[in-house]
Amino acid sequence: MKMFEPLQIGGMAISNRIMVPAMVTHLCKEDGVVTGDTIARYVRYAAGGAGLIVVEAMAIHQVKSGPLLRISEDRYISGLRELARRVHATSDSKIVPQIIHFLKVARSGWRQTTDMLSLADIDLIVEQFGDAVRRAREAGFDGAELHSAHAYTLSSFLSRANPRTDDYGGHSIEGRLRLIGRVIESVRRKAGNDFPLGVRFNAEEFIKNGYTVVDSRRIAVRLAELGVDYISLSAGGKFEDAVHTPGQVLFPYSGYSGDRCMPGDWLPRALHVGIAAEVKAHLLSKGYPVPVAVAGKLDDPRDAERVLGTGMVDMVGIARGLLADPDWPLKVKRGETDRIVQCDYCNVCKALDGTHRMVNCALWPQGDNQAPKDDPTVPAPRWAEADTVLTAIPTEARVELKWSKALGATTYQIYRADEQDDPQMIDAVKLTFWNDNDVLGGRTYRYFVRPCAATGTPGTRSNTATVKVPAPSYMVTARKVSV
Ligand SMILES: Cc1cc2nc3c(=O)[nH]c(=O)nc-3n(C[C@H](O)[C@H](O)[C@H](O)COP(=O)(O)O)c2cc1C
Repeated sequence: MKMFEPLQIGGMAISNRIMVPAMVTHLCKEDGVVTGDTIARYVRYAAGGAGLIVVEAMAIHQVKSGPLLRISEDRYISGLRELARRVHATSDSKIVPQIIHFLKVARSGWRQTTDMLSLADIDLIVEQFGDAVRRAREAGFDGAELHSAHAYTLSSFLSRANPRTDDYGGHSIEGRLRLIGRVIESVRRKAGNDFPLGVRFNAEEFIKNGYTVVDSRRIAVRLAELGVDYISLSAGGKFEDAVHTPGQVLFPYSGYSGDRCMPGDWLPRALHVGIAAEVKAHLLSKGYPVPVAVAGKLDDPRDAERVLGTGMVDMVGIARGLLADPDWPLKVKRGETDRIVQCDYCNVCKALDGTHRMVNCALWPQGDNQAPKDDPTVPAPRWAEADTVLTAIPTEARVELKWSKALGATTYQIYRADEQDDPQMIDAVKLTFWNDNDVLGGRTYRYFVRPCAATGTPGTRSNTATVKVPAPSYMVTARKVSV
């Protein structure tokens, strides 16, 4: 499979094309120091076989926030060194930290914007990024990634909504590129030209008057001209359309652009691949073979392989899918896709991040703060009743499903097929009932439920319940009218 072919990123050789994109965990101490739990989270990804692990955003400065990793002073190096060492001791996964600067936010909803920074503030940010990447190198990471996506400082300068009017201003693409350009120059000066450097930025901002692929193609070319070793594409996650909850700081993932960044279950799979492929093709057309990664609901192995196999991008970023099951790469490689704990995009992890609480996955056993260790010897869950375990009752607007318990099950995966289509997993729940509100009246649906152990080991599927949903009354009348 293309997914398991190696890839060279500057001086860094990754053994496969599966990337864990940065995901804040809030597992560190309040002062930003790495903890045993932080290390355990990343060691778990390494054990699961991801080629490239991007450690959650760590700050280059000391601005107040919830528990967020820091790389702002030399005293943070020892904890970070232990993190990199433990990952390297676990597998051949490569590990890079994501380096972030963010502007101030207040509970009142106020936020600092790019035009509030003086030229001296900008000079300081430039130096702080360089120092942070130098520390990443000293800590033994394989490279570093600059966070120039979403709502943070570098991205806010790149944005078409950048309100500055000077040389760093939003009125021209060169103005918007100036800060990231200077930061890359500072990083190269302080951390060396040979230290692999990636940049994550938005392929599209998804805000009113925000930039689209028209600009992201140009941004990518400039980054390639500057010699960055990889480009990681994300989307949205902006303050401009964030919804303010009184008494809380603005959460940049609360508006539509936030939905695009961490797409929930109602958004399509692989939703940013088309834009990323345009960026990749544009880079190639200009003679830059720089590796490109993209994230966004890419955890179906068939999608991941299609995207890589057709050369749309070079790496797949799988964030929540690998949070749910860090063993995804190993399970795909061994052909055990039916043992994957599949993310259902419920976004509990996003909500935990939004309130600065420890990020875990709702599919893990209650109370656990790490994914369960894989153990193929764990017995498959068993239905307590032998025969019919699943019933499906159709009403005009939905189908109500109920099933009996299975011994040893942590979750139940619900599958649905529309008429004769192949069944798709539509949700995963811990309860034994579920309502399907996405059915069309007049059509026939088939359902079954599969119990899963915490390690992903599946039990036998339930009976299949076939239901015809009553057509709404207006359809019956409409048919008569059209005859
Ligand atoms: C809990 C959580 C924390 C995240 N933290 C970061 C972060 O620190 N830096 C970043 O660039 N993206 C962050 N993201 C975005 C992810 O890297 C990823 O782009 C997004 O979840 C879409 O990919 P997915 O559909 O595979 O989850 C975070 C996402 C989640 C759910």
